[in-house]
Amino acid sequence: MKDFNGKTVLLTGASGGIGRHIARLFAERGVNLALAATARSEEKLTALAKEVASAGAQSMVVTADITDAAQRSEMIRQAEDRFGPVDILINNAGIEEVMAFHLLTEENLARIIEINLNSPLALAREVLSGMLERRRGSIVNVSSLSGKVPVAYSAVYSATKAGLIAWNKAMGDELAGTGVRMSVVCPTYVAGEGMHAAYGVAAPKLAGEVTPEAVAKAVLRALEKNVSEILVTAGPMRPLLAIRELFPGFENFLMKRIGMGDFLRRRAEGAERSRQSENHGRGA
Ligand SMILES: NC(=O)c1ccc[n+]([C@@H]2O[C@H](COP(=O)([O-])OP(=O)(O)OC[C@H]3O[C@@H](n4cnc5c(N)ncnc54)[C@H](OP(=O)(O)O)[C@@H]3O)[C@@H](O)[C@H]2O)c1
Repeated sequence: MKDFNGKTVLLTGASGGIGRHIARLFAERGVNLALAATARSEEKLTALAKEVASAGAQSMVVTADITDAAQRSEMIRQAEDRFGPVDILINNAGIEEVMAFHLLTEENLARIIEINLNSPLALAREVLSGMLERRRGSIVNVSSLSGKVPVAYSAVYSATKAGLIAWNKAMGDELAGTGVRMSVVCPTYVAGEGMHAAYGVAAPKLAGEVTPEAVAKAVLRALEKNVSEILVTAGPMRPLLAIRELFPGFENFLMKRIGMGDFLRRRAEGAERSRQSENHGRGA
């Protein structure tokens, strides 16, 4: 896709660290932006809508808990009533719970899978029929490098992100020749803003971090160049992934060497301390 002008873009996770940068970049392309997050972020979305309007995009705020089927449909209806059929769906909303797997409650477990995997699939399902009839449309899914290289203390998160990558691959083949495209963007740790930055523990230097702007650019590039899968990493990653396939022990060696195990443990301990102080604040 080359011409974005006047296209209807539905962006989930627009209130978050990466979502805001995607919105800003797409605003410069003159799209009509439906900015989505939950109702608790309405103020943030309204401020962002004003900002992107001044950059030349038409924008609106749509709030929904994407795990709720009725709210999902209503969100799409509102966006389409205002701007016309969704041309581009950007499945960017997501959550991460950093903790040992056995400590997750069943509710935690279900919620991570619902938000990160089931809901993007359900949203795509809802807009796809129209796209196929019109023989045009694109869906970009924001996954994570942890879908390729799963990480400890984020095991369910990694599994959902791997699920998105597998689904995207299968759909790419299924959609061939239909005029509808699907892509996945897999960023490593993002510095400065967003869910990783919120934990306050920097990733090891050799693992590297990227900017939210780099992720936003990758989303745009996926659409512009019809790229099925983009890894957003600080250095070349595909050769390492290929070596890992050939020599499975290599990954453990490398993870240890660059200090990933220690980093992941410190992150999990920090997350546990925050949960305890939140519970303490609530008088639990
Ligand atoms: N940050 C990183 O290092 C990193 C690395 C790799 C991949 N990613 C992926 O990039 C995407 C964006 O991450 P981020 O760092 O920008 O996260 P973030 O700052 O924590 O923002 C998460 C976004 O998801 C929305 N969301 C969460 N639960 C929702 C629900 N039930 N219904 C609707 N919206 C919901 C949030 O809305 P509310 O504000 O209303 O809760 C928010 O807009 C995620 O898919 C994440 O997995 C992030």
